[in-house]
Amino acid sequence: MTAMATKCFLNGDLKMPASITVKVNGKEVTEVIKENTLLVDFLRDSLRLTGTHIGCDTAQCGACTVHLDGSPIKSCNILAVQADGAKITTIEGLSTKEGNMHPMQKAFRDHHGLQCGFCTPGMIMSALGILSKSRKPTEAEIREGLEGNLCRCTGYHNIVKAINSGAEAIAKAQE
Ligand code: FES
Ligand code: FES
Repeated sequence: MTAMATKCFLNGDLKMPASITVKVNGKEVTEVIKENTLLVDFLRDSLRLTGTHIGCDTAQCGACTVHLDGSPIKSCNILAVQADGAKITTIEGLSTKEGNMHPMQKAFRDHHGLQCGFCTPGMIMSALGILSKSRKPTEAEIREGLEGNLCRCTGYHNIVKAINSGAEAIAKAQE
């Protein structure tokens, strides 16, 4: 956190403007924002990365999941200033420059892992978080790793199948 951000926290004043610099999907950006801006609002409103969704705003649903320095986090649960200096990956950062889908995105498509699609970006970011712990996760590990992600269409069965298939495709590509 910047010195200015720390000062504002200590003073209890979170509405001061602050400059933050983050690397988002490989591109460095510097923006001046209000101290009380949530990371999810910074991504969606300032950077127009609207693939990160807001389902609850209270850290319940996981729709806002992004990777912060390689680990999945709920971006409605931290202030943007707390991410100052960090590397962030959103769902938009997974596809190639040519627009080809990430293997996990393909697996969700191929296994009908989405219905309305609202939860899907968060599910995929959490799925990749599961793979960072286990290259070939068991069904139990997948279900446990998705504990913080809710699907209001209740498509969990196919989501688990999609993650299993995506994990296999990624592992095969790495062999
Ligand atoms: S919007 Fe962040 S957990 Fe629901
Ligand atoms: S596919 Fe609709 S919320 Fe999950």
